[in-house]
Amino acid sequence: MNLPGSPHFHYRDDVLHVEGLALPELAARFGTPLYVYSRTALAAALAEFQSVLQSHPDGSLVCYSVKVNSNLAILDLFARMGAGFDIVSGGELERVLAAGGDPGKVVFSGVGKTEAELAAALQAGILCFNVESAAELERLDRVAGQLGKVAPVSLRVNPDVDPKTHPYIATGLKSSKFGIPLAGAPALYERAARLAHLRVTGVDCHIGSQLLDPRPHHEALERLLPLLETLAERGIPMRHLDLGGGLGIRYRPEETEPTVADYLAPMIASVRGRGLKLLLEPGRRLVGNAGLLLTRVESVKPGCDRNFVIVDAAMNDLIRPALYEAWHEIREVVLRTAMFSGQSADRGAAVRGTAVHKTSETLCDVVGPVCESGDFLGRARTLAVTGGDLLAVLSAGAYGMSMSSNYNSRPRAAEILVDGQTPHLIRRRETTADLYALESRIPA
Ligand SMILES: Cc1ncc(COP(=O)(O)O)c(C=O)c1O
Repeated sequence: MNLPGSPHFHYRDDVLHVEGLALPELAARFGTPLYVYSRTALAAALAEFQSVLQSHPDGSLVCYSVKVNSNLAILDLFARMGAGFDIVSGGELERVLAAGGDPGKVVFSGVGKTEAELAAALQAGILCFNVESAAELERLDRVAGQLGKVAPVSLRVNPDVDPKTHPYIATGLKSSKFGIPLAGAPALYERAARLAHLRVTGVDCHIGSQLLDPRPHHEALERLLPLLETLAERGIPMRHLDLGGGLGIRYRPEETEPTVADYLAPMIASVRGRGLKLLLEPGRRLVGNAGLLLTRVESVKPGCDRNFVIVDAAMNDLIRPALYEAWHEIREVVLRTAMFSGQSADRGAAVRGTAVHKTSETLCDVVGPVCESGDFLGRARTLAVTGGDLLAVLSAGAYGMSMSSNYNSRPRAAEILVDGQTPHLIRRRETTADLYALESRIPA
């Protein structure tokens, strides 16, 4: 069965498994909706980057982009494998530290860092601030001076390259709010080099996300190389080059994704001999296909030209379809022929040792219970499901849980990290009381 994603998500006897565990067992034990990740898939994705980068003689560091999935267990796993982190807020810094991450391997990106966030990162001793504007440069110098520190900086340069991805996740065009135009970068570097509380260490660039063609990345690097030469001529040598994240994943079975080597090898070749350490900030590629969202069908409602499969997950759990019209492959967890012999888990259908009988395939939209027409997980799918069945929304490890909300007062899903035969609960399901715990009424 051609599933997009990791080989650690697979059908065994027509029942979808994550590593050695059948998803109906996880649903029975932990409930739905449920985010399920594979430890082996996460580790393999990071190891692939690290192994390709070994061919770069001047050193490298993979800084996982925390925003993509910021669960402490995932940060801890990557930290133990030697990863650094790319953060975009003080909250993400606290998460990295709480997970045992090394602050000396943290880069701080983002257009709107507050003084408090800059100060916290200076106190923690991070590796580098990816500065996005002249105003931020001055602010960072002032905050560092007040604390008696020197801030390591790189400028995030905007190379004006079209990443040919969804406009909401394209960041390297000149119309974008991110980065400093290439033409203005040398003057700003000269300014930075004169500021007493800054130490210029690198150049940074991130052009967008979900790129299935690595050529825009290669083009962006070609545009940065003359800047490095200009800076060297002006006596501002660089120690590192941070090429951001953005490598895409396969969401649809018919898509192909470039290998990490396809993406990185030409860049390593271009940078060779310049004495630059290479930093990368991948996110989606490390976690996207290492996770899925498990959901149960509440009911099937006939519509005029298709059925509505109403499930217990919604746009508050996974907003990507509503926000970017993103595609997630949706599959039945127990196929029609399955003989599921685990604990009674697939409430409506799977009975111990009995063939599962399901309705025939129909055209349907998979929708959640939220009061928005944009609340869909997938449209125009062909599925054979009935109330009580389980569905798996694949490739949901990236920008899933981390973009979730409590809209419609819906408690957020639990998260499980599967390691072989062992499910680890890495975030308990929220209760409704959790949702209003921070609120209070005014006096009568
Ligand atoms: C500065 C920065 N670095 C890294 C990333 C991670 O990107 P991706 O998940 O596409 O690898 C992002 C996300 O857009 C980002 O804004």
